Amino acid sequence: MPGGQLPTTLAGFEAAFREALPEGTLAYYAGAAADEITLGRNVEAWRELLLRPRVMVDVSNRDPSVELFGRSYGLPIAVAPTAYHRLAHPDGEEATARGSVAAGCPYTLSTLATSRPTPVGEAAPDGPKWFQVYVFRDREVTRELVAEAEEAGFEALLLTVDLPVLGRRDQEVGTGFVVGQAEGVPGVHAAGGEGEISMQDTADLIDPSLTWDDVGELAGSTDLPVLVKGVLRGDDARLAIEAGAAGVVVSNHGGRQLDTVQATAEALVEVVESIGGEASVMVDGGIRRGTDVAKALILGADFVLVGRPILWGLATGGAEGVEAVLSMLADEFDRALALLGVPRASELSGRDDLIA
Ligand code: FNR
Ligand code: LAC
Repeated sequence: MPGGQLPTTLAGFEAAFREALPEGTLAYYAGAAADEITLGRNVEAWRELLLRPRVMVDVSNRDPSVELFGRSYGLPIAVAPTAYHRLAHPDGEEATARGSVAAGCPYTLSTLATSRPTPVGEAAPDGPKWFQVYVFRDREVTRELVAEAEEAGFEALLLTVDLPVLGRRDQEVGTGFVVGQAEGVPGVHAAGGEGEISMQDTADLIDPSLTWDDVGELAGSTDLPVLVKGVLRGDDARLAIEAGAAGVVVSNHGGRQLDTVQATAEALVEVVESIGGEASVMVDGGIRRGTDVAKALILGADFVLVGRPILWGLATGGAEGVEAVLSMLADEFDRALALLGVPRASELSGRDDLIA
């Protein structure tokens, strides 16, 4: 950034991100599937939820913290798993983890990271880290990555279930984007990736045959809570819990998989109702404002995950950029608590009266 000044809005970070990256990488990071209908709908659906604040409530003392997995988190905001961070910044996932933890937010490391769990754990030893699991066709590689994440102190596993095959990424394909050499993506290299690899080559290494039995197998193999990421329906959410998951992430992969699926803000309530408080519900997709975080919690989510804005921060300012993006969302969430007349984040759930 010229003059070293970081942007003061997420939109400013997005603009700087678009200036910083080559065409192919930008198409990969910013793009989505097919006509990108769901990409836009994810953001719009939160915006269209209109708030009805209460006034004359003493909001002088506010508490944005939430309880999850038997522990307290300072904010209900985590970093979603996104791949290949060294395409955005030379310090890669270590920088993202440092920035996340500095902002007080859990960091979710992708299986398709340009770093292994151990160095990421060492880069950010003092903060909560979660590990996102893709089950490779070579199951042993996945088992080894999960074991390494457990050893490195990661506290939860997010099993991604909405990428049995890759979504049709028109923008990315149009630029001829390739991720780079397989060696730079340790998990992919271990799973058989060689030489120059594309996202399609990477996705072809992922097992498309998963069923709910595999959720049970993963949950049975670890003491960590396992969340199923990529659920959009109440019936699937129930099956995930019955299979042994500790929760679900209502997600459509940021619109990158099946285009014209519902926005996550539109799918959330059915999932919350189907789980009925028996397990955790997180949501991601289009979270760009602190008010979006408040709306998600009002609708029953326990936590939100943020994807693309983290890449905007990483590409623009490395760890400091990531921290700045998350700190802005935290500041906006704090203001939303005050201006809604609900001083504690834990009291947002079920307050449907706050949404028109
Ligand atoms: C992703 N996402 C993703 N999800 C996952 O489970 N494993 C992964 O490796 C990735 N990789 C990835 C790369 C890029 C560039 C993007 C944009 C997204 C999906 C991600 O975790 C999350 O579901 C969405 O990004 C959330 O939507 P927003 O916040 O980006 O709108
Ligand atoms: C993507 C994969 C890596 O969305 O999850 O690109």
